[in-house]
Amino acid sequence: MMLFPSCRILISLLTFFLIRQAHSKPTTSSHFEWLQRCLARTQLSFSTNSTGVCSRPCGLIPFTDYLPWTHQPVCVKARSEEDQREHSFCLYTNADFRDGRGFSIITTADVGTYISEQPIMWDRERWRKKTITFKDQPYKMEDMAERGLGLRANQTITYGRVFMESSPTIVVIRSALDFMTREQRHYMFRRAIKQLPVKTGNMILKLAKSMGGDELDDVFKTNGIGQIYGEDIRHLSILPEVARINHDCRPNSAYRFDDTTLKHEVFAIRDIKPGEEITVTYVPPEMPSDMRNSLLRNQWNFDCTCSLCAAQDFTLATSDTRLRTIQEYASDLASVSNDPELFLEKVERILELYELEDIIAPKARYLELAAYACSQLGLEAATKKYAKKAYDMWDVIAGKDSWEKKGMGALLRDPKAHPSWKYGQGEKQNESASEDPTELGNGNASELFSEVLEPTKE
Ligand SMILES: *[C@@H]1O[C@H](CO)[C@@H](O)[C@H](O)[C@H]1NC(C)=O
Ligand SMILES: *[C@@H]1O[C@H](CO)[C@@H](O)[C@H](O)[C@H]1NC(C)=O
Ligand SMILES: *[C@@H]1O[C@H](CO)[C@@H](O)[C@H](O)[C@H]1NC(C)=O
Ligand SMILES: *[C@@H]1O[C@H](CO)[C@@H](O)[C@H](O)[C@H]1NC(C)=O
Repeated sequence: MMLFPSCRILISLLTFFLIRQAHSKPTTSSHFEWLQRCLARTQLSFSTNSTGVCSRPCGLIPFTDYLPWTHQPVCVKARSEEDQREHSFCLYTNADFRDGRGFSIITTADVGTYISEQPIMWDRERWRKKTITFKDQPYKMEDMAERGLGLRANQTITYGRVFMESSPTIVVIRSALDFMTREQRHYMFRRAIKQLPVKTGNMILKLAKSMGGDELDDVFKTNGIGQIYGEDIRHLSILPEVARINHDCRPNSAYRFDDTTLKHEVFAIRDIKPGEEITVTYVPPEMPSDMRNSLLRNQWNFDCTCSLCAAQDFTLATSDTRLRTIQEYASDLASVSNDPELFLEKVERILELYELEDIIAPKARYLELAAYACSQLGLEAATKKYAKKAYDMWDVIAGKDSWEKKGMGALLRDPKAHPSWKYGQGEKQNESASEDPTELGNGNASELFSEVLEPTKE
């Protein structure tokens, strides 16, 4: 049976609503040549000394250059306590990236290779762009009393506007935090910072700290933003400008990250008035208050004071009940995916609850699901209604060029030609397909829903 076209929903640790734009990778011949060279460089073999840090050239190949990196990659071998398996993590730095902002990443050789392959790493002209591209910056940094520094809008920021664009400065793969010894971690963090331009290093070290202990561990814990690189691999990333945005359970902004261009964008998910603080949520917005509070306390060491957290008991209880219902319905979806009527009913209920809860960003996905359910049922008008809403929302949430938006565009244009129409009885299935073949793969609803509302593991 034809199931829903799969939505590649990418969940990251702290920002599981974060959306990655997928772009097809150009494969020009010159690019291909780079790849060969690059592969030869990134598949390192390791020689480690007793600290687990490579001494001297970290590989058998005598490197003459490390392009696109400006420093020779160094690697450590870490051992998992559980199964004693060995994991290698390497540090890659390009100190020139984004006009001298720099980029350092501690990750696996596979992810290192993946990033080396991206055309952006070879395109000096594109690096020249400033970190924050908006001359007319619509906010200013201010002291927000007990909330520390924050950003306040000084002009109206309309729904959908991208008002901050930046790139990660220092990134670490999540598994390295679990597997590297303290010594290895500190060595790698320090080296990652040292290899960046001094100005960038200082910006990182000046960030808020909250937990005590080692300075860099603390900077990562307090400011790290979940990002996905390569094949859905979780990383934590420091974006100093973005790290200044404070938490709100019902924020006015959200972000997205494109791991092929390393572009991180913050955009408004509602109109923001001058004088209003710019906020994002640090935790999944569906999280009930008790979980939310303890995560914020444990992870960032602060007590939530946003208007929802500060609400009367009755309001909080009502909200928690709704949030639990959303979770319950969402986890039911996989089991009713063979019954589009029931499925649609649950999705519509979830959308209503999001509306009542004033949760915005996750709605795009459920609007899309509603569109597919209607398409399976052969309800043309309803399919178009939901597809249009999802299309408009993905335009803002995932971005103008996102495959999510394109996929909804294809359904909207001609529902009857779409592979999801009446269980794949679409009239002209072959030519129906959208521009992006990836989203019409072997859709598997259980796979899709196992990721929705996955509890945060921390
Ligand atoms: C291991 O290598 C690191 C980096 O080159 C060096 O700082 C350290 O002293 C070395 N340790 C030993 C025991 O050789
Ligand atoms: C808002 O603040 C920024 C940063 O201080 C400034 O560059 C910008 O001109 C301000 N905009 C307005 C409309 O005041
Ligand atoms: C649909 O695909 C089949 C097999 O790939 C092909 O033979 C047929 O001509 C296609 N039909 C249209 C309308 O493109
Ligand atoms: C869908 O995915 C789940 C989990 O990955 C798997 O167990 C199941 O067999 C898959 N179903 C189909 C029809 O491919």
